[in-house]
Amino acid sequence: MIERLRRGDGARLRAIRLRALADAPEAFGSTLAESEARSVVEWEAQIEALPTFVWREGGADLGMVRGAPHDSDLDAGYLISMWVAPEARGRGVADALVGEVVAWARGRGLRRLVLDVGEHNVPARRLYGRLGFVATGGTGTLPGPRTHLREVEMVMELAESRGSVTARTVDGAG
Ligand SMILES: CC(C)(COP(=O)(O)OP(=O)(O)OC[C@H]1O[C@@H](n2cnc3c(N)ncnc32)[C@H](O)[C@@H]1OP(=O)(O)O)[C@@H](O)C(=O)NCCC(=O)NCCS
Repeated sequence: MIERLRRGDGARLRAIRLRALADAPEAFGSTLAESEARSVVEWEAQIEALPTFVWREGGADLGMVRGAPHDSDLDAGYLISMWVAPEARGRGVADALVGEVVAWARGRGLRRLVLDVGEHNVPARRLYGRLGFVATGGTGTLPGPRTHLREVEMVMELAESRGSVTARTVDGAG
């Protein structure tokens, strides 16, 4: 079941984000060390600023994703912080989480969703490609000192992908 985190859920966000950063450090721009140092106030502020969705199962948070405003394109949003716990992978949890960010973006009238994914992150690239994200040709790296880790930019045009994502989300959430 997917749940949107709300004010007061800062401890939950901290716990799942730290687990994600420990599990997959090369998938994220933030580091475990800098995130461990954040205060409760900062985690609460992140929840206020960014729509945050978690996959809850058996009383535990086993997946997360967030949306964010694009820094230069008013018609776009970002999909960030995607992570599914190893014990919950391979059964569509990520599909359902992406669907929530797509719904959030559509609700804001955004025309496209953008993300950056590690060049060598085959599971994530397969996931995003299957859901309708396409590589833009844009590339970048993680922040220093990890600039050797290259990322590729992918975009989903929301107007064109309405039917397929909705269907996959329902399947994934089933
Ligand atoms: C990428 C990630 C979110 C996918 O989550 P998921 O719920 O397993 O997604 P899916 O079930 O759609 O599987 C996606 C791909 O993972 C791979 N996969 C499938 N089962 C798997 C398993 N049990 N364990 C690991 N990977 C598996 C497959 O390649 C699959 O693609 P396919 O179905 O087209 O063959 C998850 O692997 C993850 O959290 N990875 C670490 C963090 C990360 O890379 N985040 C993305 C940052 S851009």
